[in-house]
Amino acid sequence: MNFLELVQQQSDRMMPEHYKSLGVEEMEARVRRIKESMGKRLFIPCHHYQKDEVVQFADAIGDSLQLAQISAKNAEAEFIVFCGVHFMAETADILTNDRQHVILPDMRAGCSLADMADFPQTVRGWEEMQKQFGDTILPLTYINSTAAIKAFVGEHGGATVTSSNARQMLEWAFTQKERVLFLPDQHLGRNTAYELGIPLDQMAVWDPITETFEYDGDLRQVKIILWKGHCSVHALFTPENVKQVRSRHPDAAIIVHPECSREVVELSDYAGSTKYIIDTIQQAKPGTKWAVGTEMNLVNRLAKQMSDKEVFSLNPVMCACLTMNRIDLPHLLWALESIEKGEVINPITVEPDLAKKAKWALDRMLAR
Ligand code: 13P
Ligand code: SF4
Repeated sequence: MNFLELVQQQSDRMMPEHYKSLGVEEMEARVRRIKESMGKRLFIPCHHYQKDEVVQFADAIGDSLQLAQISAKNAEAEFIVFCGVHFMAETADILTNDRQHVILPDMRAGCSLADMADFPQTVRGWEEMQKQFGDTILPLTYINSTAAIKAFVGEHGGATVTSSNARQMLEWAFTQKERVLFLPDQHLGRNTAYELGIPLDQMAVWDPITETFEYDGDLRQVKIILWKGHCSVHALFTPENVKQVRSRHPDAAIIVHPECSREVVELSDYAGSTKYIIDTIQQAKPGTKWAVGTEMNLVNRLAKQMSDKEVFSLNPVMCACLTMNRIDLPHLLWALESIEKGEVINPITVEPDLAKKAKWALDRMLAR
């Protein structure tokens, strides 16, 4: 089932209207009371892109790798109310046991990048690639992908990667096979491969819509096949933004997420996962200036928390991940109050066969 079908299936499970008219203090007090009364039966993991109104109630906050590691370790919480996007909640469901319920407070919290590779497209593309290259390819999928894609990759000997271990995983992949198929984010794939010393002319792009390679030259030279997908939020950071910051704030360092294009990463000073961005700015000297190319909630939080430094967005028109923003205080409260009433709303349950194969891909990553 793809994400849109899931949304359709869950459309009768929308939050009741009355939650929208509750005051903030009232909602916060109700969330606090439920958290206290449920204790360790309840666990609320949060991604760094979540809104402050939700992050204040997080039991753990992290990047995608940390959230996967936390889920794999937590065997005691009966209810995991995941404040992040759909693929993250699916990953948590795959890595937790059958007695644990994973809940996504709003089923509309998808990830447009994850939806850029669907299962039939992947099967068809893989067939073409086998015809072209024979059995020389290992598939790697960014964790921002559906459980079905992770299962496909797991079944073909590959692994998941996140933005914080992509280099290490790509190095491992090349010890297994001569070539790598990198799904679904071409930019993370290209940036990581380039960092490993693979020249751009050994990278082909696979277009899943036209079912063709975008490549000029002899395909036999290709080391990495990049799936033609991208994050619509990070696509909003452009080389023009970098040039503007360089001219208006020559003393600022520029740090971006590797979902940004190759051009932007090349012109920036640093690139890395959300955790890397936070750690780098945290460890920087007071008085330093930082232009940050990633999601708006995180940039705003850094600007607020690190008041001894100047932190601002690389793109002056702040870039929000609208699906991450679907999770808000009213939806969190609704999810928690439903649990109290004995109803599990918006459960994320990956079908067992898919979960088994997707776990192979996740385990290969977590073992490293
Ligand atoms: P991180 O793993 O770096 O937190 O990235 C997740 C994500 O979705 C970035 O857009
Ligand atoms: Fe997906 Fe991009 Fe949002 Fe990250 S920022 S969750 S990759 S749409």
